[in-house]
Amino acid sequence: MTYMKALSLILLSSFLLSCNMNPQTNVTSPNGQLAVDFSLSGDGQPNYKVSYEGEKIINPSALGFEFKDRPAFRDGLRIQNTESNSADETWQPVWGEQKEVRNHYNELLITLQETEAPNRLVNVRFRVYDDGIGFRYEFPAQENMADSVFIMNEQTEFALTGDHQTWWIPADYDSYEYNYTQSKVSEVDASEFKSENERVDRQIDNFQAVNTPVTMKTGEGLYLSFHEADLTDYAGMTLGITDDLKLVSELVPWADGTKVKTKAPFTTPWRTIQVGQTPGDLAESFLLQNLNDPSKLNDTSWIEPLKYTGIWWEMHIGKTAWNYSERAEDSYGQQGGTQHGANTKNAKEYIDFNNRANIKGLLIEGWNTGWEFWGTDSVGFFDFTTPYTDFDLREVASYAQENDVALIGHHETSGQAAHYQTRLDAAFKLYQDVGVHHVKTGYAGGVIPKGEYHHGQFMVRHYRQVVKTAAKYQIGVNAHEPIKATGIRRTYPNMMTREGVRGMEYNAWSEGMPPQHTTILPFTRVLGGPIDYTPGIFDITFDKYREKEQVHSTLANQLALYVVLYSPMQMAADLPENYLAEDDEFHPAFQFIQDVAVDWDESKVLNSEIGDYVITARKEKGADNWFLGAVTDENERTKKVSLDFLDDGQTYQATIYRDGKDAHWEDNPTAYEIEQHEVTSQDSLDLWMAPGGGTAISFEVK
Ligand code: NOJ
Ligand code: CA
Repeated sequence: MTYMKALSLILLSSFLLSCNMNPQTNVTSPNGQLAVDFSLSGDGQPNYKVSYEGEKIINPSALGFEFKDRPAFRDGLRIQNTESNSADETWQPVWGEQKEVRNHYNELLITLQETEAPNRLVNVRFRVYDDGIGFRYEFPAQENMADSVFIMNEQTEFALTGDHQTWWIPADYDSYEYNYTQSKVSEVDASEFKSENERVDRQIDNFQAVNTPVTMKTGEGLYLSFHEADLTDYAGMTLGITDDLKLVSELVPWADGTKVKTKAPFTTPWRTIQVGQTPGDLAESFLLQNLNDPSKLNDTSWIEPLKYTGIWWEMHIGKTAWNYSERAEDSYGQQGGTQHGANTKNAKEYIDFNNRANIKGLLIEGWNTGWEFWGTDSVGFFDFTTPYTDFDLREVASYAQENDVALIGHHETSGQAAHYQTRLDAAFKLYQDVGVHHVKTGYAGGVIPKGEYHHGQFMVRHYRQVVKTAAKYQIGVNAHEPIKATGIRRTYPNMMTREGVRGMEYNAWSEGMPPQHTTILPFTRVLGGPIDYTPGIFDITFDKYREKEQVHSTLANQLALYVVLYSPMQMAADLPENYLAEDDEFHPAFQFIQDVAVDWDESKVLNSEIGDYVITARKEKGADNWFLGAVTDENERTKKVSLDFLDDGQTYQATIYRDGKDAHWEDNPTAYEIEQHEVTSQDSLDLWMAPGGGTAISFEVK
């Protein structure tokens, strides 16, 4: 096993067991830039602070816990022991943005003990990397915490050094599906989202609080992002904001108000602060994955990154429906289509299209019975194994196999997690039997059992159980309405991608997202992990189905998203007919979707400003090709890009898909041009992007 080998290579460069008199309480990053200092205040309260190149970036911040029926763990502590370690190893992800990941840190472990009875113990472990820090609490096995421990509050603080610019979404206990707001941290105010609280699948308790990753730019121009890693058996963390500019952990509660139910020994997730001089530094960081355990799956040969189409957008724009019914009013939600989309004939047509287009995956939603009860009070209406009468799963699966198409299964639970758990094995087994290796899950609705939240410990456990069960059946997961990504893809590489974002579907049936949305995502949501944003809409206005709604970007921008927004499962989300030109040949711009890779040897953010523009380049895994994606917000702009990321000594054919001269996301979104040039790493290009536009480039070795 690679990890065992790697472990034996870890250099314990300094191992220091200090005595109580003079304990080591500081630790710096391998390059010395980042430093964490730990201390106890006069009354024995633990604190840490962080500096970057000698300047404070986190002021003294307290750590602590409140429990049910036990004294709080906040002060009256002494340092019982400290220990320093270092590690430097390199590991290979099964799939990812980068062929190799370096895990290089210095560590400080501090053992704290109460000076008075019950003399409880906790370890605080800090890991300091060049690109950020992580720390977590480890409660060792101990008599006083052996039976159930109920955490009522975790009081981890991040005391900011200024009123930083912040890109944030509200601290909703159920949903991350919001547009980002940019404001000073002191001006965070989610009351504008109050109306969302009427929904069963939304819950904001504190309007001066945010979900993570939350990203900031300091007055000195440094970028910080706060999040968590290895969220395994704990509640999701939101961050409340105090008047004196402290972020304070606010855990998502269980229905009974408890935050976390556990017993010693237990560890919390890592609390993380990513630090960078540019937004790109944040996006290129592997801090979160490095803070997760190595893969627990021995055989990963069945895990396959892929592009996919789907019987999906047609339901969102109201061309067809999820449920099989003659009655239009039975259709799911506001979509309104009446013809059932997931029928055998339609599925076979998609398979033919995929085969011709060489797109490997096909998602089919609405194939199984139960959708007619969507939005009603019924419970347990999906059994995840019974197809509608017009859909022959086995016939479709074998037709897919004949045509080298991989079906992507679908389990929409409507939030009924407890019920889904009882069906999990049967549901995955059926897919395994018909040769399916990818399943999209969904939790669109209030969680049942009632009172639980999507981001509380009950659901954290549930989502993990689903990933583990899926692995047993050799199935990769694309989770919608998920728990946030915290780097567990390292441990379970079958946890491939997830939503947890206001994605493309919102453009189909709501006011959607402003053009700047995708210039913010790489530096906020996507810091956590891959995103199933579902790009690639060519019929931007879809006026045939909806007049008012449209996608808020140009067509070239849609192409660029395949590079800008990383996912090992990347959808070509539009209807197949929109990828065809009038002569039934492929739309010329579809070539980019066919060519672009989904797995990478290298990834670089070349230039960016959060909320304004992003330019990203990636090198295809195991191949010489490079791809570039650039997107802008509502402003047009020209950016000069040096091609020095290309391999030296190679000549490439660059195919440039750019906005047409008068392109504009609102009134002329489909104007595009394709150009070809021979280029080398010595060249540079001026990229002009229309308002809401972008550029996509493929570089093929000649
Ligand atoms: C919401 C998901 O995000 C979307 O992708 C899916 O089509 C619907 N729920 C139905 O499951
Ligand atoms: Ca902007």
